[in-house]
Amino acid sequence: METKHIKVEYKNRWALVKISRPKAMNAINSDILDELSAVLDQLNENDDIRAIAFTGEGKAFIAGADIAEMKDMTTIQARDFATKGHQTFEKIEKSLKPTIAAVNGYALGGGCELALACDIRIAGASAQFGQPEVCLGIIPGFGGTQRLTKLIGPAKAKELLYTSKRISAEEALEMGLVNHVFADDELYDELDKLVAEIVDKSSVILSIAKDAVDGGLEKEIDDGLKYETNLFAMCFCTHDQTEGMDAFLNKREAKFSDK
Ligand code: CAA
Repeated sequence: METKHIKVEYKNRWALVKISRPKAMNAINSDILDELSAVLDQLNENDDIRAIAFTGEGKAFIAGADIAEMKDMTTIQARDFATKGHQTFEKIEKSLKPTIAAVNGYALGGGCELALACDIRIAGASAQFGQPEVCLGIIPGFGGTQRLTKLIGPAKAKELLYTSKRISAEEALEMGLVNHVFADDELYDELDKLVAEIVDKSSVILSIAKDAVDGGLEKEIDDGLKYETNLFAMCFCTHDQTEGMDAFLNKREAKFSDK
């Protein structure tokens, strides 16, 4: 599929998805959601791709949903826009592959929300995060009120929402909003290193690990532990469990086959 604002760089067994609308700070409009959705379908179905990372072109990661497009929306159009955003970001959140946001600049509104849909977030030192929607007379519509709250807790999430303030990458790190902060010019090298440590594992076992964590988030501890028990047992019907344990016991590198 031809895409105007989404560029995909195919790396060694993973893909870097770049939101590329730099003149508008990579603001997400309906067309970008359509393109992103189609790209995610392709990548999610591609067995050669074992992880998906996201970043932005230029000085922004993504400065939010497109305010010019939203300004004159009717209630119904706004509902459809938010639904389309949710459906697209769910393709990131529910991807069987590990997902990583490499936040290179402004991650505001829908940009912060896209990062929140990823499994892992890393940021360049000059990145800035925020949910400034109330300044525009709206609330977040691409999952921010839910995923931000789950990640950093309701009190900190409400402070960010109520004040609309932008926070630095270091503040985001302190809040648990990002996993690591790197010098700006080291962000993509560090992304390479992080992804390299992920893509040599068994993709089937990684997808089970992701399911265990995400599935458990919605459950009480007893149910979560039962869920983990069943998924743990499921690993034992994979070839990669046999291979991983045999490799360890025979002091050799495991060669996983994703089976
Ligand atoms: N939507 C549409 N256009 C945007 C945009 C957005 N979210 N963010 C930036 N742009 C456009 C600007 O209008 C400007 O366009 P022109 O050159 O045609 O005037 C261009 O990008 C460059 O932006 P600035 O001149 O403002 O650049 P700056 O360096 O001075 O500031 C910024 C950068 C701090 C990111 C600032 O642009 C900004 O605050 N943007 C809006 C951030 C925001 O409010 N995001 C939330 C959107 S609502 C949302 O996301 C809802 C949801 O959950 C679904």
